[in-house]
Amino acid sequence: MIILDGKTLKEKIIKNLKMKIEQKKIKPGLAVILVGDNPASQIYVKNKVLTAEKIGYLSKKIILSENTSKEKLVEAIKKLNKDSQIHGILIQLPLPSHLKPYEKEINNLIDPKKDVDCFHPENMGRFFLEKKNHDDILAPCTPKGIIRILKEYDIEIAGKKAVVIGRSNIVGKPVALMLCNEEATVTIAHSQTKNLEKITREADILIVAVGKPLFVKKEMVKRGSVVVDVGINRLPNGKVVGDVDFENVKDKCLAISPVPGGIGPMTVASLMENLLIAYNHQLT
Ligand code: GUN
Repeated sequence: MIILDGKTLKEKIIKNLKMKIEQKKIKPGLAVILVGDNPASQIYVKNKVLTAEKIGYLSKKIILSENTSKEKLVEAIKKLNKDSQIHGILIQLPLPSHLKPYEKEINNLIDPKKDVDCFHPENMGRFFLEKKNHDDILAPCTPKGIIRILKEYDIEIAGKKAVVIGRSNIVGKPVALMLCNEEATVTIAHSQTKNLEKITREADILIVAVGKPLFVKKEMVKRGSVVVDVGINRLPNGKVVGDVDFENVKDKCLAISPVPGGIGPMTVASLMENLLIAYNHQLT
């Protein structure tokens, strides 16, 4: 059984990015906006900023209080859109409850050229229209990281049956498209899917993004399959686990991604790659 080690691959990607920007006079600049004090978001933001600094990017962390008004947040985005030192902007989600109804509207205010999350309809549209996965266009970070790690471990995708559990705009839908571009036959399953186990047991590649701790058990996976766990859940005892019951499932797999240390670091690595892509688009 192979462990898909995202932590190590992230380090390799960082090293490569560091080399690519070493000679550049103007450094790529990343701005991360965090509204409120969600503890998980605080950790993710810290991680993104530290990784950016490790590469040698310029980084800017903008922390706004929990009760920040929509107007104040809009103002912060507009300022960053105009800031020539900043090439990538991301707003850490989730937003506090009073801003949730405006999430889409707020994200759409980010200059598409600086949209390193690839949430803007213009970037999502461009991404959707590609027939192959390219390294030089912005793509959603988690799906991009998943394809990258499968390739790193020489996991065959073409002709395989892939099942994605989850249909979010950030993970489920775009990863299904990317797998399809890699010539897999893809099924998207979700909360209303009947007979889920029958479908997942046919998967050569199973991508799990449901947000339910330890949801996938060994009865749900095919022997010799590749299982990719996108979940990050904190149990009441403080332990962080994925959507897959790793210990229960691992011996049935050809390869499996752990949590932590699997897709989480790959998402950050992809964000760092997206920043260089956005920078190159803006400076050339
Ligand atoms: N919150 C959870 N995942 C993400 C992500 O990929 N981007 C942003 N901005 N927030 C998130």
